[in-house]
Amino acid sequence: MKVGIVGAGMVGSSAAFAMVMRGGASRIVLVDLDEKRARAEAEDIGHAVPFGAAVRVDAGGYDDLRGCGVVVLACGVGQKPGETRLQLLGRNAAVFRSVVGEVMRVCPEAILLVASNPVDIMGQITQRLSGLPAGRVIGSGTILDTARFRWLLGRHLGIAPRSVHGYVLGEHGDSEVLAWSAARAGNVSVGSFAAQMGAPITDEVRARIDTGVRRAAYTIIEGKGATWYGIGAGLARIVAAIAADEGAVLTVSVASEVLGVRDVACSLPRVVGAEGVVAELVPELDDSETEALRASAEMLKRTVEAVGM
Ligand code: LAC
Repeated sequence: MKVGIVGAGMVGSSAAFAMVMRGGASRIVLVDLDEKRARAEAEDIGHAVPFGAAVRVDAGGYDDLRGCGVVVLACGVGQKPGETRLQLLGRNAAVFRSVVGEVMRVCPEAILLVASNPVDIMGQITQRLSGLPAGRVIGSGTILDTARFRWLLGRHLGIAPRSVHGYVLGEHGDSEVLAWSAARAGNVSVGSFAAQMGAPITDEVRARIDTGVRRAAYTIIEGKGATWYGIGAGLARIVAAIAADEGAVLTVSVASEVLGVRDVACSLPRVVGAEGVVAELVPELDDSETEALRASAEMLKRTVEAVGM
């Protein structure tokens, strides 16, 4: 499957590199206003191909996106230290108005995968600008937060993150919801498994993991200016699910109705395949998680309405 990536910055380039190393794309085209950067990234990533999947990696212009099955939108600006993702909205919305038009001109059949923050709202803006059905405009949403949750829980429990089954839902941002009540280690609740392992999930452990997930980006940005490896791998995961028509359940963001909040984009567990998002799962949550998820969706809806998007 041919994949376009608009934005050859650290996120877009990391996504391209992750696609080479895990497979899922047969060809990658990097597009960036900084053509010199795009060419350099494409060449550098191409040098990884002998160690990874047989992918052709090029830099090009919008016209080179023709025939893409997926176009990743990783363009725009990133958070400054201490800046929330929502504070990026005005700057990135302006960028997207031109980018989405160009992409739709060249490859209207592509599934659009949005990575730019605030990703839930940027995904909803993209869906409205493109006129595509909701399921064909996917925001990376909380796929990264879910990975962080699984990684930190796995470290606490002493098991592989892939054996931890837990979700982060709602906004990819400060109001996100860690669905502790539904989290499993294998097919055992994480609480039961933790007790069996002599590593109970105390209030302190729970608070540490919550902070480790919710504040991860801020911490990393303070240290190195931006995040890119985790989100790049998450984008490659979504592309692989589309390319292989996996029907993978991933927490991604799509415009839909969430707990009675209509026309809002935030993350739920959703089934991802060749046609994009083809189904969504109503998560089993406790009362406090349900309220927090509804509040997250309501906050996003108010934000979109407030800016008149
Ligand atoms: C993060 C960025 C991708 O959470 O929003 O690292």
